[in-house]
Amino acid sequence: MKPITGTTGTRILALGAYQPSRVVTNHELAQSLDTSDEWIRSRVGIVSRRIAGPDETVADMAVAAGGKALAASGLSPEDIELVIVATCTPESTIPNVAAQVAYRLGTGVPGAYDLNAGCAGFCYGLATASDAIRAGSARQVLVIGAEKLSAWVDWTDRNTCVLFGDGAGAAVVGPVTGPDDRSGIGPVVWGSAGEHAERIRIPDRRSLITQDGSRVYWWATTELPAVATQACRAAGLAPHDLVAFVPHQANLRIIEAIARKIGAPQAIVADDIIEAGNTSAASIPLALSRLVDSGRVPPGGPALLLGFGAGLSFAAQVVAIP
Ligand SMILES: CC(C)(COP(=O)(O)OP(=O)(O)OC[C@H]1O[C@@H](n2cnc3c(N)ncnc32)[C@H](O)[C@@H]1OP(=O)(O)O)[C@@H](O)C(=O)NCCC(=O)NCCS
Repeated sequence: MKPITGTTGTRILALGAYQPSRVVTNHELAQSLDTSDEWIRSRVGIVSRRIAGPDETVADMAVAAGGKALAASGLSPEDIELVIVATCTPESTIPNVAAQVAYRLGTGVPGAYDLNAGCAGFCYGLATASDAIRAGSARQVLVIGAEKLSAWVDWTDRNTCVLFGDGAGAAVVGPVTGPDDRSGIGPVVWGSAGEHAERIRIPDRRSLITQDGSRVYWWATTELPAVATQACRAAGLAPHDLVAFVPHQANLRIIEAIARKIGAPQAIVADDIIEAGNTSAASIPLALSRLVDSGRVPPGGPALLLGFGAGLSFAAQVVAIP
């Protein structure tokens, strides 16, 4: 068994993002719920979120984001040998989303599978894509995080429905072959805390999402800073080397608390949650895309990704900004 000749590492070649056109503000929610813009902004940081149309599917959004990433990469669809869709809100469990997305993007007959690691799904997908390339199982991989949480929330439950949004983000991952080129995707630090599995749940197909928000908040702010610093160390960096920190967008207060604890004052901290809400596995590629599009982060600069959520599962790695 031989890896692809000359592969010294992997990197994100290009990104793509898609959000539905419908913007739902806190004020709109407050018209039908016992909530307020003030409560949502101060406790979570969200001002508005995007909500998919009734007929818009997870696959539709994944195709839109994946198509943009593919176009930006300059590759042709046939160059993609593996498609991974991280999602926990597919309309169907069979067929999987990834095979439909691969077909609709015209990618020939790549390997295709869905991955459910909750809100950490994109980081898991990126890690497994990178490992597949290094092992020689695929040369270019399309990794997509796509979610339609709006179909899985109780729109009368203020504890949950104000938190979530819909969307998709994608990355084309490929090999680094030059002898001097450093790898653009660092080792993943991942894990799970199954003893807290009940804290975020959609237990069966008739259920809607529930979570023990304050316990998850405590877990995230207590346990994850060490995971983040470990991912920096695994990449041979210190937090003060980072140009950006792109954590899962679950709560702006969680994001700020972790950023403070890891100590990277110079890093730009992604705050996509303000206008996107919590889009689960889509949140990190959406936030990363927005940062790159803003021109505020230098290409090649190291950015720390940190996914966490249902499972409870987590995964972190340092990537080079494409
Ligand atoms: C969900 C979360 C925003 C709730 O914030 P919180 O400060 O913990 O709030 P609590 O759940 O303790 O609720 C406090 C009060 O606010 C109320 N409340 C909840 N949602 C509300 C809303 N949208 N508007 C107004 N009041 C609300 C509750 O009913 C409760 O009222 P009570 O004290 O009268 O019972 C927060 O816990 C969180 O972000 N947790 C982490 C979520 C996460 O990271 N998940 C992983 C990824 S999916």
